[in-house]
Amino acid sequence: MQGTEPSDSELLRIALEATKNSYAPYSRIQVGAALLTESGKVFTGCNVENSSYGLSICAERVAVFNAINSGERKFKKIAVINSEGKGMIPCGACRQVLAEFSEDIEVITLDSNNRIVKYKLSELLPHAFRLGEG
Ligand code: THU
Repeated sequence: MQGTEPSDSELLRIALEATKNSYAPYSRIQVGAALLTESGKVFTGCNVENSSYGLSICAERVAVFNAINSGERKFKKIAVINSEGKGMIPCGACRQVLAEFSEDIEVITLDSNNRIVKYKLSELLPHAFRLGEG
């Protein structure tokens, strides 16, 4: 994937592929995320649940941490979907984690009519928490 940037539908397809690694025996909702960096790389994530439910982590945060672990910190887009091909919107915790790295990241998912829908993170999480800001 060098040179051409993946389209929004391609990013959703990569996110769908990532649902295959989801570990979600409790909710049975398998989620995948595909995160496009400013440098044009794509990092994926899936949700990972735990029998101590609160320790579970969403696909979006796994994708972000996966990218950070590889030295990438600037993100352009994130696509999120579940294994049934239904759109998912990042939870509040994931929005805050995304905001750490980019307020303007585009969140790509599908609406209830299966049409691609995009949001700016600043729309989904206005006034994100920042240390030292009131
Ligand atoms: N989940 C995600 O991975 N991403 C979202 O955008 C919302 C929820 C996961 C968490 C949990 O494993 C399951 O979906 C049900 O909430």
